Amino acid sequence: MDKRVVFSGIQPSGDLHIGNYIGAVRQWAKGQDAGLNIFCVVDMHAITIPQDPKTLAQKTKEISAIILAAGVDPEKSLLFVQSHNPDHANLGWVLNCYLSMGQMGRMIQYKEKSEGKGFVSVGLFDYPALMAADILLYDTTEVPVGEDQKQHVELTRDVAERFNAKYGETFVLPELKIPKVGGRVMGLTDPSKKMSKSDSNSNGVVGLLEDPGSVRKKIMAAVTDSGSEVKYDWDKKPGISNLLEIYSQLAGVSVSESETRFAGLNYGQFKTAVADEVERFLTNFQKKYYEIADSEKLDEILRNGAERSYEMSHKKLLEVYDRVGFVKP
Ligand code: TYM
Repeated sequence: MDKRVVFSGIQPSGDLHIGNYIGAVRQWAKGQDAGLNIFCVVDMHAITIPQDPKTLAQKTKEISAIILAAGVDPEKSLLFVQSHNPDHANLGWVLNCYLSMGQMGRMIQYKEKSEGKGFVSVGLFDYPALMAADILLYDTTEVPVGEDQKQHVELTRDVAERFNAKYGETFVLPELKIPKVGGRVMGLTDPSKKMSKSDSNSNGVVGLLEDPGSVRKKIMAAVTDSGSEVKYDWDKKPGISNLLEIYSQLAGVSVSESETRFAGLNYGQFKTAVADEVERFLTNFQKKYYEIADSEKLDEILRNGAERSYEMSHKKLLEVYDRVGFVKP
């Protein structure tokens, strides 16, 4: 039997964009033919920053449907909502007690998300403990994520090692899987910053459910670089390199093949080709999304995912409880 266990998660906060798709969700769908594949909509992580309850509920369903539209097949993979399985919060609590304030304070995402905020929740600070619990509950061997999650997966390995050293082999140490191309899709208006759900300038972000016509305009207005040659060179041409990566990932060709295709074209012609590809992709993707979102199957898929995940996670949680000395009820 294939011992590969894949786990990944996504927050139902904000609108999903092509960075989330290329960097994460598409990789999930691509890898699901082997091993055990578990994907989670992490609503408990989302409330680490203020959320409107109605919007959170709506986004949780929306993102679940997006994951299915991206090709995650409920016959092959498990998909569930984090708050439907209480083991995540329970293990998160235990792991809290094996992580230091110093290590948590060094998390880049915490620093970025808390900077300049009047109210910073303890949950935001503690976020990586819950993420480690998500991963460690399933003996996960691989975590496919975008580059911004690297530090959190490293922390997961650290806490697992610390726990194993103290109590004996309990957790499997997961490997980080970042795609070579597309692990960090950058914003269209500022290619020095990653495309982000929380970006205040929406012209830089391509939403998966956005009107393809208006996305076309954003691509045509994307910041390019000095010079006129379409070349893959992150140092000198970050704007063009980002568009080349987006094109290559959506068209399913390598970056060097994309570069060859556009040799001799000017920036305007190149951007027209990228806009065509993005528009074509979004039109097809949204057709699939609305079929799923309008069907009644979604709730059943999520319920089934929660039940099956709990069967696995609960064994691990009880093992951990036993290791730390909690008595049985
Ligand atoms: P989240 O919801 O911020 O993002 C979901 C996934 O999308 C990737 N991503 C990107 N990839 C490429 N380019 C970008 N511009 C870009 N922006 C986002 C992220 O790296 C991520 O893979 N902490 C996680 C959720 C989480 C999780 C987990 C992930 C909770 N528990 C367990 C893996 C395993 C997060 O906030 O992702």
